Amino acid sequence: MATSAHRALSPVALPVLISRDAIAKRIAEIGAQIDRDYAGESVLLVGVLKGATIFLSDLARAISIQCTFDFVAVSSYGKGTRSSGAVKLIKDLDQPIENRNIILVEDILDTGLTLSFLKRMLMQHRPRTLRLATLLDKPDRRLEPIEAEYIGFNIPNHFVIGYGMDYAERYRNLRDICIFPPEAAD
Ligand code: IMP
Repeated sequence: MATSAHRALSPVALPVLISRDAIAKRIAEIGAQIDRDYAGESVLLVGVLKGATIFLSDLARAISIQCTFDFVAVSSYGKGTRSSGAVKLIKDLDQPIENRNIILVEDILDTGLTLSFLKRMLMQHRPRTLRLATLLDKPDRRLEPIEAEYIGFNIPNHFVIGYGMDYAERYRNLRDICIFPPEAAD
């Protein structure tokens, strides 16, 4: 993580919080951990659209055990940087998950409302195991008592964009995780 004194700038001149190299290194570690935890078994990675897609695609390639994908979508932050608090399922699973090992993959665990809602929903389908993987965790913002088994990075209470995460649907394609707006890094 860059310090504010020596903060790197992304190509769109936003302060970089976590560089692409740090992300790649951490995802390789999480992939190796998943391989150990599920040795000899298979997992279904369930990504939360749209923010988790880039994390899921890199995480899947860091995993050597048999793995398949599915996706769910929920109502999100909308166009701003604040949560509305309400979570609604917009896209359901495409396949049954009963008796399967599920890893729910999310970009960022913030208040915990989204993952608590999805965890409750998935548990109703009786998976064999259900674990949560989040690239980022903002523990200070939690409203629901939920923790992920696999966490990329704990971060302070900044709004971040890049590597799948957006502000008003923009910036998802940035390769580094950046602080938005730039003055929030000061
Ligand atoms: P939660 O329900 O508050 O835990 O929020 C989870 C969702 O909020 C994430 O999947 C993101 O879509 C969004 N979110 C929370 N914090 C940020 C952020 O800093 N940048 C971009 N999206 C965020």
